[in-house]
Amino acid sequence: MITTYAVLSEGLEKRFGAVRALRGLDLAVAEGTVCGLLGPNGAGKTTAVRLLTTLLRPDAGSARIAGHDLVREPAAVRRRIGVAGQYASVDGDLTGRENLRLFARLHRVRGPAARADELLERFGLAEAADRKASAYSGGMRRRLDLAASLVRRPDVLFLDEPTTGLDPAGRARVWQAVRDLKEDGTTVLLTTQYLDEADRLADSIALMDRGRVAHTGSPAGLKALIGSYAEAVVADGDALAGAAAVLHRLTGSEPVVDRGRNTVGAAGADRTLTLPRLVRELDAAGVPLLDASIRPPALDDVFLRLTGEPTHGKEHAA
Ligand SMILES: Nc1ncnc2c1ncn2[C@@H]1O[C@H](COP(=O)(O)OP(=O)(O)OP(=O)(O)O)[C@@H](O)[C@H]1O
Ligand SMILES: [Mg+2]
Repeated sequence: MITTYAVLSEGLEKRFGAVRALRGLDLAVAEGTVCGLLGPNGAGKTTAVRLLTTLLRPDAGSARIAGHDLVREPAAVRRRIGVAGQYASVDGDLTGRENLRLFARLHRVRGPAARADELLERFGLAEAADRKASAYSGGMRRRLDLAASLVRRPDVLFLDEPTTGLDPAGRARVWQAVRDLKEDGTTVLLTTQYLDEADRLADSIALMDRGRVAHTGSPAGLKALIGSYAEAVVADGDALAGAAAVLHRLTGSEPVVDRGRNTVGAAGADRTLTLPRLVRELDAAGVPLLDASIRPPALDDVFLRLTGEPTHGKEHAA
């Protein structure tokens, strides 16, 4: 089977003064799939979305979106895509319903009123439909923005942190919307800070680090790449060093010692490391063991392992 890519970029670069926001972005998203673009603050996720949706021009590189050349055919690209960004595009002076009807008319969608109602319902905004958008909460406005991006049924939808700031119910609605879209054959590229979100929704994950894609793969594949996470709880702090030495030997990776909880953990355990073996080895080394576990890695571990940077606590480079 030949894979068709809805998004295919090569060597995209973007500079803001001295900041190289994108340093050669290569991205491939197969048609009808959901791709999670993940990365710490400042990695270049929003810049990537703005480039791929024609809101910014690349300094170098090329891309094809839904079969159209990004730089040479921006209007054709725009006709095929939808985008909901960190900056809402809705008009605060209009009600939610009016906003969606306006978008529908602008884009010559058949039955604009019905389409607006359908989307208001889908995103839990039916009750607030006749209130001005300026009176919406942040989460409601994000959902309205997302609804607006779907008014004309795009082939490729770009969502920049679609669930940031939403309450759990709001997040669940957005997740369901993404699943429904995929079901209908829409390709979705979403950026997120939430690793569990990418894990749940994405068929493929691209990890961005400093303006480049550092790694790509399926959520399961990326996890398999770094192996499971082994952890031991010891009876007293003096035993931490001994336990760390055992974990280092068994996993080949640098253990993380938590003195507060008397635990030592290490990523990178392969299939040969079973729980009985972990317990045996720790016991043989004289470690007073209270508890031990081997669990699948979280994407946080994956990120740390692959890029050497934690996903949280990074500041924007000025
Ligand atoms: N308009 C701009 N002017 C100057 N610098 C910019 C501009 N937009 C982005 N940058 C810089 O480019 C880099 C990438 O920013 P970008 O917003 O793409 O990151 P991000 O991955 O979306 O981060 P976050 O997770 O915080 O949303 C950062 O160093 C940022 O400060
Ligand atoms: Mg961003």
